[in-house]
Amino acid sequence: MEERKALRGTRDLFGTEIALWQKIEAIAQAHLTRARFTEVRTPILEATELFARGIGEATDIVGKEMYSFVDRGDRPVTLRPEGTAGVVRAAIEHKWCGPGVVQKLWYRGAMFRYERPQAGRQRQFHQLGIEVLGSDDPRADAEAIALAYDLLQALGLSELVVDVNSVGTPADRQTYRQALVDYFGAHQDLFDDEARDRLARNPLRLLDSKDPQMAALAAAAPNILEYLGAESQAHFAQVQAYLTALAVPYRLNPRLVRGLDYYTRTAFEIQSNALGAQSAVCGGGRYDNLIGELGGPPTPAIGWAMGLERLVLLLGEPPAPPPLHAYIVARGSLAAPFSLKVAQTLRAAGLTVDLDLTQAKLDKQLKRAAASGALAAIVLGDDEAQREVLQLKWLQTGDRQEVTLAASIPLLHGAP
Ligand code: HAM
Repeated sequence: MEERKALRGTRDLFGTEIALWQKIEAIAQAHLTRARFTEVRTPILEATELFARGIGEATDIVGKEMYSFVDRGDRPVTLRPEGTAGVVRAAIEHKWCGPGVVQKLWYRGAMFRYERPQAGRQRQFHQLGIEVLGSDDPRADAEAIALAYDLLQALGLSELVVDVNSVGTPADRQTYRQALVDYFGAHQDLFDDEARDRLARNPLRLLDSKDPQMAALAAAAPNILEYLGAESQAHFAQVQAYLTALAVPYRLNPRLVRGLDYYTRTAFEIQSNALGAQSAVCGGGRYDNLIGELGGPPTPAIGWAMGLERLVLLLGEPPAPPPLHAYIVARGSLAAPFSLKVAQTLRAAGLTVDLDLTQAKLDKQLKRAAASGALAAIVLGDDEAQREVLQLKWLQTGDRQEVTLAASIPLLHGAP
């Protein structure tokens, strides 16, 4: 039979790495809850049209990377490539948006993009993100960026670079787009097929090309910040002033364009120098027109998402596991039910307890108890079961004592 393996670009998560995921998720949840964000869980599967309209037909995500298929009811559906479109769909469906209402939501979960897998880039990956619906106050932008930056700091990441830009309104971008087409159009002799395609479909994406020749060309391209209307300029100036006040070290990067078409005004990314080519740990921005475009009431919004695989790569070291208080070894027909009761009672008292489920000889089970790292082994035979007592063997010292079940609880709690 052929060897069974997880699909390319997908991974099993297990063992000590799981502890790292749980730690990241727990710190993020506490951080976002303190800022009064509530969690939302939307379906992984949505109508294809939601992403095509929301993210934009001209993007790589929609054009090349979606896992789309027609379901058994002949409906075109897609495994979500990102979280924003689904949250916006839910907000419209449940009427979460309205005049004067600000919704602060966070989410985490699996996303799917058919990309070329490499370190930090998967086909099934996980994002943790926020969406703030209903405010165009520049404080919302600064707070969102600072929340991301502070969370990454709280997780223990350093060497972070916060790139910010404003991509203006669609009206600002129209003039800018033409300036880019004029500029890049004059250098088409240097273009490969992909660059030619971008020039025709999405010229802004020529600015963040990784190809050295294209990057050099992009460095001298017209600067978007010179094409912003007065309102976009004032908004962006205010966002920057607030970021400075919050001591978020940011870098103005007029060549930062995001891979999704819904952005307006503020766009940002947080990069880590410690990652290789896939250096963005967080990306986001303002999307003031998306909710209206998807059929909801016109509602300004801003959000971001972090790639959890990249955080796991950066953090590397899993946290120490919690202490194992006791490892129960038992043998005998009376000891068997008693061992179950001992485990249940001690766990109900808040202790961490493992129960050996083999019928092996006691010395074999005791070896496993020693290897488990438990503070104590609890040894149970039929005699102990009959008398309702436990033999506690402290595994550091080898000392033994006989105690009742009730008396063992404070002893195990008090152990170092
Ligand atoms: P994005 O920049 O496409 O934005 O993705 C956000 C983050 O997800 C990236 O910075 C990266 O860390 C991670 N990521 C993306 N693709 C992969 C992949 N193939 N493998 C591993 N990690 C990946 C969005 O998705 C927007 N929805 C963010 C947003 C929320 N904007 C507004 N609200």
